[in-house]
Amino acid sequence: MTKRGYFGSRLGIVLATAGSAVGLGNVWRFPFMVGHNGGAAFILLYFGCVLLLGLPGMVSEFIVGRHAQANAARAYGAMHRGRGWKLIGYLGILTSTIILGFYAVVAGWCLQYLAASLLGHLNGDSHYVEHYFQEFSTHPLKPCLWAVGFILITHLVVARGIRRGIERASKVLMPLLLVLLVVIAVASCLLPGAEKGVEFLLKPDFSKLSRGVFLDALGQAFFSLSLGTACLCTYASYFSRRVSLARSALQICLLDSAIAILAGLMIFPAAFSVGIQPDSGPSLVFITLPNVFREAFTAIPAVGYVVAVMFYLLLVFAALTSTISMHEIGTAYFHEENHLERRSAAWIMTVACSLLAVACSLSVGGWAGLQVMGRSLMEFCDFVTAQVMLPVGAFLTSLLLGWFADRQVVYNEFTNNGSMHSTLFRVYMVSVRYVVPTCILLIFLNQSGLLNVLTALFASH
Ligand code: TRP
Repeated sequence: MTKRGYFGSRLGIVLATAGSAVGLGNVWRFPFMVGHNGGAAFILLYFGCVLLLGLPGMVSEFIVGRHAQANAARAYGAMHRGRGWKLIGYLGILTSTIILGFYAVVAGWCLQYLAASLLGHLNGDSHYVEHYFQEFSTHPLKPCLWAVGFILITHLVVARGIRRGIERASKVLMPLLLVLLVVIAVASCLLPGAEKGVEFLLKPDFSKLSRGVFLDALGQAFFSLSLGTACLCTYASYFSRRVSLARSALQICLLDSAIAILAGLMIFPAAFSVGIQPDSGPSLVFITLPNVFREAFTAIPAVGYVVAVMFYLLLVFAALTSTISMHEIGTAYFHEENHLERRSAAWIMTVACSLLAVACSLSVGGWAGLQVMGRSLMEFCDFVTAQVMLPVGAFLTSLLLGWFADRQVVYNEFTNNGSMHSTLFRVYMVSVRYVVPTCILLIFLNQSGLLNVLTALFASH
């Protein structure tokens, strides 16, 4: 087998991994979750989940990946002699394939909107824009082609390998993405009446927290950090032995959260400025925002045009660095375990994800009967991954590292053989042993209503 690839520099590591984390989760999913869950109070919960559960979870996946320097399944298998632990790796590969399936549909919509905004096809009143989205997203063929096209672009990058493909793409796309984001956020905050949007983002109103909010915040945090699918584990297998895993994880968590907030600052001030409510759900950036851009910049339509084009370009960049990371998990697995060439291994993922993407796309369009448990296949994939599979993956990973893995191995990886962070290691261990599993379990119990039953039982005794 050919030699394994590695990321070439510390910057490359942070940018590629942050590229995985920063994606539609920040710019598309985060804003509509915040809009749906009432604003700042949800954001606080979200930050709580990132710091308390996401950060140690990320370090754990890094440890597994860098220790074994192998694909997800082999890496999890290498942490303990029990054979079952390999299953976490398989679960991760399955989860990321499902996520890539529905994610590519939304990424394809972004491509279509980039083309449409360039050609000026999004100009029209609010009915027109809504109609445009309905017509486009329910078209039997177009959105499928865009989604498959997006997976093919991803394929091209992944097939080129770690340093020449993934690292190089991230080094170009991530800085561009940041610049675009800051420019649009500033333009949005300068609009008249923008303060109301900023207030919505920053001033918590706890009365707005509903019951499902904890699981929503947890699911969003894990989704946004690419946690729970062995994605970070696969990337960490390309890290050099010298980088500090804890420091890299902290940098990536901070960057990811900062970008989510920037995305909020880009969307909510503009929406409030033109009096549009931001609670429209997944279609927020496709129906609400084109109206926002048009109305906000009526005085100078050219600025509206440029902002819209920049916005969809930003979505495409953000999505691409993330789809690359989901694709890589399976590609690395088939490449190493089945002794296939990297390019052939990548085709397996491309074909599998394309089939799923077409089914997801049809389920919200031409083939509305394609439902699972009362939801369209597309919504079901989002739900079952973010709210079940990611938390389960993270839960099992933390059990493995906290209770089953050889403590010396975990210590050596965390501290780079004792050369750094030995005090922090104790905090980390408490967190993966007790805090992370307990919190995930409580959030599950709370969501399923079991927590209420249990507290009632205790109260009656
Ligand atoms: N984190 C990415 C985002 O915010 C999505 C993503 C990439 C992901 N890789 C993942 C989510 C692996 C879960 C698991 O858009």
